[in-house]
Amino acid sequence: MFSGLSAAVGVLAATYILLLAALRSSQDAEEPPSISYSIPFITPMLNMAAKGTKFHRLMRSNDCCQLDWCQQGDLTSDHGYLMSFPKYVHAALSTGPGLGVMNRRSIQVIAKSLNALARQGGATVDMFTWIRHELLLASTEAVYGPRNPFRDPAMEEAWKSFKAREYMVKVWEQYFDERSFEQGSELIKARVKINDDFQISRKETARIELGGSQAILSNTLPGTFWVAYHIFSDPVALKDLREALSKGVYTDDNGVRTVDFSHVKSSCPILLSTFKETMRVHSLSTATCIAMEDYKLNNEYLLKKGSTVMMPATVQHTNRDVWGSTVDDFMHKRLVREPGVKGPNPIAFRGFGGGTTLCPGRHFASTEILMFSALLVLRFDLYPVTGKWVAPPMTKSPLVNALPIPDWDFQVEMRPRDDGKPWNVCFSGYDKDMEIVAEDIESVAPILAH
Ligand code: HEM
Repeated sequence: MFSGLSAAVGVLAATYILLLAALRSSQDAEEPPSISYSIPFITPMLNMAAKGTKFHRLMRSNDCCQLDWCQQGDLTSDHGYLMSFPKYVHAALSTGPGLGVMNRRSIQVIAKSLNALARQGGATVDMFTWIRHELLLASTEAVYGPRNPFRDPAMEEAWKSFKAREYMVKVWEQYFDERSFEQGSELIKARVKINDDFQISRKETARIELGGSQAILSNTLPGTFWVAYHIFSDPVALKDLREALSKGVYTDDNGVRTVDFSHVKSSCPILLSTFKETMRVHSLSTATCIAMEDYKLNNEYLLKKGSTVMMPATVQHTNRDVWGSTVDDFMHKRLVREPGVKGPNPIAFRGFGGGTTLCPGRHFASTEILMFSALLVLRFDLYPVTGKWVAPPMTKSPLVNALPIPDWDFQVEMRPRDDGKPWNVCFSGYDKDMEIVAEDIESVAPILAH
């Protein structure tokens, strides 16, 4: 018994010494200090598991800069599938006819559904569940086309639990075998093309689409919920937005209203700011890149060639030096950019990542979220059935999400603000990109390119 215990203590001590030696030998003295390494490599993992979505924020207050256990192999010379991916999908998601078709389709789906809800006089819904369903249908109709597998409620159920993966693979196999993607968006066609070019079979393509559909849905759906939550729980934001958005609504002689989405995109900076402020407050993403050469950050910290640099958005989004004393407050107009007014540095907003891994889906996602929010604000009043707006916590949300899933749902009563007649939607032709991230801002993009 005693010798068994001594052996176990011996093994633990030897493991500890080995881990410490591995840490020390792989780290240059000029590199940023290691974080919470009472047990090297293990403590950060345990902390991350225990503290979940609060992990990075807490680490920042420890004055730490590096997750030493993130060092990886050499990705700087990879010309394979993953590194080629952007070349294929970025064109399909950039401003142009392909993206235009996707945007229009998703908005039509949303408008039709809200028309039906207004006609029936509103409803009481679980807010997160309802928004998730609306955005899931709108996004997947836009991407997968008329043979969208998510039209079958069984597919939505499977996606929600993510447990019925083999069932979903079978559905995707049928979708690709029957060449249904040919009637879908440029995006889904591009994703099939890269797989074909890399000689990936249709069976594997079906499996890969499990991940592809995650990228399309996993952030847009909770993101839309949080935007709606912040708008409707704040009477000032709601009033400001209604005033601004109603300028883009036209009523014809028969009393039929039309929302011009070009107005929402081009002339409603408060809505874009509300969306970005929601992302500032809630983002969980961690941008990751590889140092291509040795680099001295701030002339102080060495980033060694080949090492992985991880930049959690939550740390940047809660930096008091950047956002000022109101950093902990939600301010819907904080990110309105006005000529001659010095606002926060646009580079500080990292909701969609940045640099080479900047989210290519940001224009599609932002357009969809803004248009849904605009229609909801214009057409409905929302009342929580408990009588009070209480923000659900999000401690259980998976860290792989860039935007968190609320820990619990709650009911809201939706009451139409009008006579329930259908509203039309139109685009009067504005096709410029919105200034979502620094890379989209004409005066900032060239600085970032250097
Ligand atoms: C509000 C919704 C969304 C948020 C917050 C979001 C956030 C992000 C973030 C933070 C990254 C960068 C990850 C990194 O730096 O490693 C990313 C990458 C990516 N996103 Fe999104 N995303 C959203 C919607 C979408 C949509 C709708 C699509 C597709 C239609 C999409 C496709 C992608 C792809 C393909 C990448 C990988 C880019 C690359 O590494 O080249 N995203 N997204």
